[in-house]
Amino acid sequence: MSHIYRIILAIFIVSQTINAGFFDKEGLILIPSVAFRDRSSPNDWNLHAQGWYYEENPVQAFLMEKSLELVVRKDLDRNRVKMFTAEGEDGEQICINALSRSMCTKTDKEGRIKNNFKLTNQEIETLRQVSSGGGKVLVDVGVQKKNLKGINEILLCDDNGLTFISDIDDTVKITEVTSSTQTLINTFSGDFKAVEGMAEIYRHWEKQYNATFAYLTASPDQLYPFLREFFDREQFPIGSAHMRHFTWLDKNFITFFMSSSYMSKKTETLEMFLKNTLNRRFVLLGDVFQKDPDIYAGIYGQYPDRIEKIFIRKYDNDVVGQERLETVFKDVPRHKWATFEKGSDLPRNIF
Ligand SMILES: *[C@@H]1O[C@H](CO)[C@@H](O)[C@H](O)[C@H]1NC(C)=O
Repeated sequence: MSHIYRIILAIFIVSQTINAGFFDKEGLILIPSVAFRDRSSPNDWNLHAQGWYYEENPVQAFLMEKSLELVVRKDLDRNRVKMFTAEGEDGEQICINALSRSMCTKTDKEGRIKNNFKLTNQEIETLRQVSSGGGKVLVDVGVQKKNLKGINEILLCDDNGLTFISDIDDTVKITEVTSSTQTLINTFSGDFKAVEGMAEIYRHWEKQYNATFAYLTASPDQLYPFLREFFDREQFPIGSAHMRHFTWLDKNFITFFMSSSYMSKKTETLEMFLKNTLNRRFVLLGDVFQKDPDIYAGIYGQYPDRIEKIFIRKYDNDVVGQERLETVFKDVPRHKWATFEKGSDLPRNIF
């Protein structure tokens, strides 16, 4: 794959020299997030807002699209490609508003919004909207100097209850991460395809257990709007999304999608859920194609009483995958983990 990387890098450097200052098309992506009770004062909640404020670079998007098309020999969706050539707007003032409270802060150097703010329990009760589990609150996020605004959905994750934490690529959506060409095709062309039966069983569990959902993925947050379209079309339960962010400075395109550096990020997010809730229990879903089993086995080792079950997607006839799982999960009781290939292989009752 290294030739692809070189082509893309060359295109990138050339197009960097074409100043994109002529264009001024900016956007704001807000990604559903979570709120936990404040551990030091349980009458307050900590809400995490997350998003990205960017400016498009149409020249670079065009060149990038054409070069990727040469490599994968398919038509790609420019709207998706252009999110990867857009640049984060760093150090810009953004304000988060809920009720009469306003909290203003700046985007980080990648243009990301990653902010915590507090609301009292009473304020949460005023704002709470019905959604599965503990409900959600909506907060306004706006860019000060522009008329650019959006609504950030924040799901309430209280101390009790059940949360399903699910990977996306090759767990609920067909990405075929074991092939880099297929990953590019499945990411940048055509409609995203769902793993059969997953949306149905997730909806069933959501209702049956009054559960909340969190989607934990190595995919970049630049893809969130397209994933959301996919989730809504397939009717997956709404959940918070915990994604990485792609930048040109420190990573290249292909290795970003292929790298295993997401292990620590995923583990950190799982720890955030476990540390910030007292008795909430979790069901973890992932696949054998990447590092989910290793990550989940690690978390199980730390919090055995709070992980109800681990489900790993693999092909039914994948003997090597099965052996790998037996090894990775050697310290996890056998009844605590199971494999599946499609939604209908999963149990309707977890306990
Ligand atoms: C779901 O859980 C939330 C939070 O514990 C609770 O307020 C709500 O009433 C529950 N809904 C159902 C249908 O049990």
